[in-house]
Amino acid sequence: MQLQAFVALLSLLGAANVNANPERHARLAKRQNAGAVVTVGSSSASSTSLSPGAPTTSFTSSTASALGSPVPTTPVGTTIPPLVNITSGMATPSTVPLSATYSAGATPLISGAPVLPTPFVFQAADWPTQDQIAPTDSEEVSEWMEELNGFNIPDITPTVDGTCQSDPAAAAEAASRGWWTCGGYTRVTDITACPNKLTWGVSFDDGPGFYSMELLDYLASKNMTSTFFVIGSRIVERPQVLVEEYMSGHEIAVHTWSHRPLTMLTTAQVVAELGWARKAIKDVIGVTPTLMRPPYGDIDDRVRAISLAMGMVPVIWTSTGTGATFDTNDWKVPGGVVTGPQSFATFEAILSNATMLNTGFVVLEHDLYAQTVDLAIGYTLPAAMNFTPTLTLDSIGHCNGIPSTNLYRESNQNTSFPYANSTSGDTSVPSGSGGKGSTSATSGTLSNAIMPISMVVASLLAAGGSLLM
Ligand SMILES: *[C@@H]1O[C@H](CO)[C@@H](O)[C@H](O)[C@H]1NC(C)=O
Ligand SMILES: *[C@@H]1O[C@H](CO)[C@@H](O)[C@H](O)[C@H]1NC(C)=O
Ligand SMILES: *[C@@H]1O[C@H](CO)[C@@H](O)[C@H](O)[C@H]1NC(C)=O
Ligand SMILES: *[C@@H]1O[C@H](CO)[C@@H](O)[C@H](O)[C@H]1NC(C)=O
Ligand SMILES: *[C@@H]1O[C@H](CO)[C@@H](O)[C@H](O)[C@H]1NC(C)=O
Repeated sequence: MQLQAFVALLSLLGAANVNANPERHARLAKRQNAGAVVTVGSSSASSTSLSPGAPTTSFTSSTASALGSPVPTTPVGTTIPPLVNITSGMATPSTVPLSATYSAGATPLISGAPVLPTPFVFQAADWPTQDQIAPTDSEEVSEWMEELNGFNIPDITPTVDGTCQSDPAAAAEAASRGWWTCGGYTRVTDITACPNKLTWGVSFDDGPGFYSMELLDYLASKNMTSTFFVIGSRIVERPQVLVEEYMSGHEIAVHTWSHRPLTMLTTAQVVAELGWARKAIKDVIGVTPTLMRPPYGDIDDRVRAISLAMGMVPVIWTSTGTGATFDTNDWKVPGGVVTGPQSFATFEAILSNATMLNTGFVVLEHDLYAQTVDLAIGYTLPAAMNFTPTLTLDSIGHCNGIPSTNLYRESNQNTSFPYANSTSGDTSVPSGSGGKGSTSATSGTLSNAIMPISMVVASLLAAGGSLLM
């Protein structure tokens, strides 16, 4: 991760932050209340012919979702630009409205989950400053810190800024730190793929965004579910979008409050970053996710242990083991670092490489920007659906065999997921030795091995994909 790119992303996040659209809010407010969930079993999805190379294709998401979304009251649509037009500074299309609003008390699709809370109202004074590292001197953070009691949080010095270049000393210890950023080190507790070959665990990061509804409409029209790794600072801006994601059957997971590389933060700051995002989700949809994704994939054993102690399993994205990770670089398009065609070419290389894995895979994509949403619904998702050999597109928790109930603390049926909740002992957070490429790691115990990602994937497969159920 280039620091430059990181800074560019931060400034983009800042820009998105001021992207509040009063017109859209008025439109949302006007929409008819459709609290009841209408399940449509035999929806005929609108025939769309989105495919890479078919420029300026339109789709209309006027058909009902089979995932439980209320039937949209009016057709909505958008136009996908030709791939070459998906660049920094492209004219951004108008966004589509929410399919529906859901009333307090509406019943979610998750068995045993609480009903929807009263609609979230953002009071800035009750929250950390948006897009700033969450402060640690609050009652909330003190309370969340207690969740670490009884857990072994490794005493690892925070990195300088989450990059390898800025911290050669930490980079030299990357193997023993289990630092993903420098060398791709993972632990068996990380989810980095779907266990089944040719299965893509689809996810989108950094929303809820201004363009997320276009993506939701598209996914509904294809009867597809995704995992959304959402940012606290965005949730408080667009809570209704999060409600729609959750109520229409997508998986919701934590992606921190301000999207900083977590290895550079103190332990209390990591707790604050995870805790405030978790609280935002809970306040908006009434449940507490058990999955999280570290921004930039930046995780080490300290951050892992904190996350697991707080009840969240880390999810990263797949690496081939040769240093390449399945990052579409779509997030670099709005800033002009890569072009739409370059990002799509990377995606095509990812699919090609994925066919050579013994497992399925997870790819990094985003729903925060017009460019990234257009790439997804106009190009990457259609390419995956038309791919030979046939791919299965699934959400990440589901493809890993985690029952949907267990994706949220309130409805979780498994007292030992994501860990045995005992205050008397250690967690299964790994602390063993080994290293990238160490073949002996394959024989390590599940709780005590450092493995390169490819080996973790192999062990997931060997465990029949039930490792994290
Ligand atoms: C694509 O970009 C070209 C060149 O800037 C422009 O003339 C054209 O109108 C754009 N097409 C669409 C559909 O945005
Ligand atoms: C949508 O997907 C679900 C789950 O895979 C399946 O049971 C259902 O039949 C599908 N519905 C349509 C209309 O394709
Ligand atoms: C773990 O157990 C303690 C004590 O029973 C409880 O306070 C805490 O909320 C539990 N944590 C989770 C993540 O369930
Ligand atoms: C695909 O695999 C090739 C060969 O290992 C590698 O050079 C390339 O970087 C990989 N690309 C992606 C996006 O995984
Ligand atoms: C509960 O979770 C644990 C830890 O992930 C797992 O080993 C176990 O198989 C799960 N049990 C059930 C019944 O899913």
